[in-house]
Amino acid sequence: MEKAVFPVAGLGTRMLPATKAVPKEILPLYDRPAIHYTVEEAARSGFSKMIFVTSKGKEAILNYFDRDVELEEILMARGKKEMADFLRGLSEMAEFIAIRQGVPMGLGHAVLQAKAVVDNEPFAVVLPDDIVLSDPPLLRQMRDLYLRTGKSVVALYRVPEEQIPSFGIADAEVKKDGQVVIHDLVEKPSIQEAPSDLAVIGRYILEPEIFSILEKTPPGRGGEIQLTDALKVLAKEGRLLGFIFEGKRLDIGNPEGFLKASLEIAAERGVKI
Ligand code: G1P
Repeated sequence: MEKAVFPVAGLGTRMLPATKAVPKEILPLYDRPAIHYTVEEAARSGFSKMIFVTSKGKEAILNYFDRDVELEEILMARGKKEMADFLRGLSEMAEFIAIRQGVPMGLGHAVLQAKAVVDNEPFAVVLPDDIVLSDPPLLRQMRDLYLRTGKSVVALYRVPEEQIPSFGIADAEVKKDGQVVIHDLVEKPSIQEAPSDLAVIGRYILEPEIFSILEKTPPGRGGEIQLTDALKVLAKEGRLLGFIFEGKRLDIGNPEGFLKASLEIAAERGVKI
């Protein structure tokens, strides 16, 4: 399992006006573009091919992970070897592939665009709006669970009641051996409808059969093709596991969360502010 899909075609409207001219994935969290952190998590989890599902105006994401020999030479000439090495290291983290999602038709549709590149192998989906701080990385732990069980895995996180309507929510059962079996999922339910407080957060390890399910998935909530609706099919067949994450999760999908995440990341790195 070597491929991780990053849906990054979104307009970032919740971050306007900051995202008018710059993709939200490139806005800095402390001193690195936001996308750096999730790509690093995937690389540390053993993934070596990062597939960005992009759209118009997102070229800066690939530029960040590309070599810039001229810049490296300038830095070397100025005695800044450490930064030159860091920049070169970005391109060595993985192989980077971009495919386009011409029409924004939802997360399920974005994932489906990666079908030809992923081919017939299990793969990860990583949503870069969710930053998780953990060691070993969350995606690594989920990958290990997939390798042990052969079942697709989604990350779950307990959320306070008022946040339930912002997430996919799982009807899950913790078995005696600690395995978390997901029986059903509901995309962004009301508090009354929600089967639990276990929210799906943006990490998934998926069997390639999800593509043929997505191809048959009609538009759901918000008129979009929802990944959650395709995952429900696996859940109903008892083939979807949850991995309950108890570490720190940072939501960078809005300006307040972004600022908070920046401060948390700086603090983790020992920066005094
Ligand atoms: C997506 C998924 C949702 C999931 C969330 C995690 O929603 O559709 O099931 O809980 O990501 O961040 P979005 O936040 O893209 O609206």
